[in-house]
Amino acid sequence: MLDQIAALRRQAEEDLAAATDRAALDTFRITYLARKGKIAELFDALRTVPADQKPLFGKHLNALRADIQTLFDQRSAGASDEHRPSPSLDLTLPGRRLFTGSKHPLTQVLDEIKAIFVSMGFGIADGPEIEDDYHNFGALNFAPDHPARDMQDTFFLSKQALLRTHTSPVQIRVMEQHPPPVRVIMPGKVYRNEAISSRSYCLFHQVEGLHVDVGVTFSDLKGTLISFIKQFYGSSLKYKFRPTFFPFTEPSADIYITCFVCGGKGCRLCKQGGWLEILGCGMVDPNVFRSVGYDSEKYTGYAFGMGIERIALLRYGIDDIRLFFENDLRFLNQF
Ligand code: DAH
Repeated sequence: MLDQIAALRRQAEEDLAAATDRAALDTFRITYLARKGKIAELFDALRTVPADQKPLFGKHLNALRADIQTLFDQRSAGASDEHRPSPSLDLTLPGRRLFTGSKHPLTQVLDEIKAIFVSMGFGIADGPEIEDDYHNFGALNFAPDHPARDMQDTFFLSKQALLRTHTSPVQIRVMEQHPPPVRVIMPGKVYRNEAISSRSYCLFHQVEGLHVDVGVTFSDLKGTLISFIKQFYGSSLKYKFRPTFFPFTEPSADIYITCFVCGGKGCRLCKQGGWLEILGCGMVDPNVFRSVGYDSEKYTGYAFGMGIERIALLRYGIDDIRLFFENDLRFLNQF
């Protein structure tokens, strides 16, 4: 019987070495290790041997079963099958980082501007980007021969329809729809037929403001806009108002702040002047009130407008306006 055990061991070891996949290993297990397998057959045969030899044969048989089982287990652990990851998949590699988006720098600036004006009691309104000549120019007191009405500056879609060149027409639309008092800001895209360069683009964003009520004065304009400038740019900043002309306001002013790059000494950014223009404003012209049916004897108001790209360029020290529109992640990821 010892010969039989030794022969079976040899046979089993050979068969196991030849079994390379899961199916062959299964066959091996059924042939040798299962309840009706070859090892079990020898255990059955043990019953017929003389009693005094049973312990010796039993010991060898047990050893055979244990050894073959161990070899089988080792072989199974290394066997390949389709559920196992292929060797080309390295599970120890660190995972890929999740891509998290962020707000566009223009949106960040706009959000800040909105929050400041909302905290001062302003609502938010918007209007169409495709406008007519009347809302974009006529109702805003532009003379019929004003140069802005020229094809050179404005994208006309037809004789009447055009892409708005500023957010001021939203003032007209708000006043046409709401009786006074009104106090709103109106952010949005505007379009101009300009040569594209690092300084100007055919599309940009503005925030318009309008406050109309009984007894609104230039002091209200100054108080509100100075408060905005201090909250947005910092309270130690110097500013100045300089008279200018807009068709829709009288009197009109541009607001300047000290250049925050050179502190007013003069540099490339402020073109050596020490000041940066950030905003246009003025008291609403009575002709504008007349176009929307407001009583210009009873109501007064101020309006203002500012460009968002310009503010963002200054704030982040960006030297090319086109970067805002290229959607290059190498640029956007910095904000
Ligand atoms: N619409 C002007 C522009 O595009 C900006 C502006 C200036 C708006 C003065 C106003 C204002 O409401 O009062 O340049």
